[in-house]
Amino acid sequence: MKKYIVGNWKMNQTLANIDDFFSSLKIKDSKCEAWIAPQTLHVAELLKRSEGAPFNLEVGVQNICEHESGAFTGETSAVTAKDLGAGFTLVGHSERRSLYNEDDDLLNKKLHSALKSGLTVIFCIGEQLIERQNGMTNAVLKNQLIEGLEGINANSFNDGQLLIAYEPVWAIGTGEVATPEQAQEAHAHIRAVLAVELRLENKTIPLLYGGSVKPSNAAGLLSQKDIDGALVGGASLKGEDFSKLCEIASL
Ligand code: PGA
Repeated sequence: MKKYIVGNWKMNQTLANIDDFFSSLKIKDSKCEAWIAPQTLHVAELLKRSEGAPFNLEVGVQNICEHESGAFTGETSAVTAKDLGAGFTLVGHSERRSLYNEDDDLLNKKLHSALKSGLTVIFCIGEQLIERQNGMTNAVLKNQLIEGLEGINANSFNDGQLLIAYEPVWAIGTGEVATPEQAQEAHAHIRAVLAVELRLENKTIPLLYGGSVKPSNAAGLLSQKDIDGALVGGASLKGEDFSKLCEIASL
């Protein structure tokens, strides 16, 4: 399986920054899956620019509404994102969980809505620092998977249409990265929960690690057995770093 480098641009990048990003990209013939989730209003712009890129760049969104259409002022549906040309969406990023109070029940609805529209979903989970310190990491991850993926079975999605991102909350945007061993241990646990509790053992579900990934620590993380790629915030904003990450993931 190709490794994934997924850039989560969050609420960053002006059009001028996007120009800089594309002019400093050094990817030639990428052997990894290079994906970017810009702000939704920039999806069309990124799709336009990626047409000329010498490698395949998948463009997605960071969030979708749980409803397909209707009176939900300010929201964007999965169907609209798909119509726009987005290939994937994040669901359950820790910033959505903590800043916008998105709970497991809502995230489960978003997951179903996105899969139904044909979007690929990167479903994000991760423990808080206090939970890790109290030895609750595995229990928290299991619970987020069981609640978040409720009603999902092997027929709900195609191979590769659902990815799980393990993002320990204490490592997001803090510069503090999980060690490759900590990340591998969590990923092995996630793999086991998906197989045993959710009976998805025959599905291909890539597992991404996220939280302060950068060119200097990516190789150690990506070489772990159960780490299929990285979800990258800060280090995905610059074309040089994004290129380096793709290079490492292509080895
Ligand atoms: P970071 O963000 O790489 O800046 O820590 C990761 C994320 O929020 O997905």
